[in-house]
Amino acid sequence: MPLDRRSRQSFDAHVDRRGQRGRSCLRGSEAMALFVKVARLEDLPPRTGMMVVGPCDKPMALFNVGGEVFAINAVCPHRGGPLANGRLDGHIVACPWHGWTFDVRTGQPDHGGGHCVTAYAVTVARSDIYVGWIKP
Ligand code: FES
Repeated sequence: MPLDRRSRQSFDAHVDRRGQRGRSCLRGSEAMALFVKVARLEDLPPRTGMMVVGPCDKPMALFNVGGEVFAINAVCPHRGGPLANGRLDGHIVACPWHGWTFDVRTGQPDHGGGHCVTAYAVTVARSDIYVGWIKP
């Protein structure tokens, strides 16, 4: 699935940021091949989340924070709560079951438990939302 130049630059910037944090990920055409369209921007109003199925049938939680879209693993590491249904406060989502909180930009916890979820690459092209695959 080809992406336009702007989307490709967004993808590359995202990969670079991830790389600086020490995460490994697929590179180049291998990773681009795993970007899939999951939703339209108008289906995800600001300050809301939705569950989608990403590359490799992975359930992901999408969030719109001020017009910017983020994707993390859809399943809470505590007991499997649906993070897409969580309450969003800025970049922090609270699991609807027991309240564990995660930063949707990074998947890192906002609590003392030390558990995190995987954050995935997202790009938006012509109001279509694409998510990619980043290995933890
Ligand atoms: S299942 Fe998410 S906090 Fe318990």
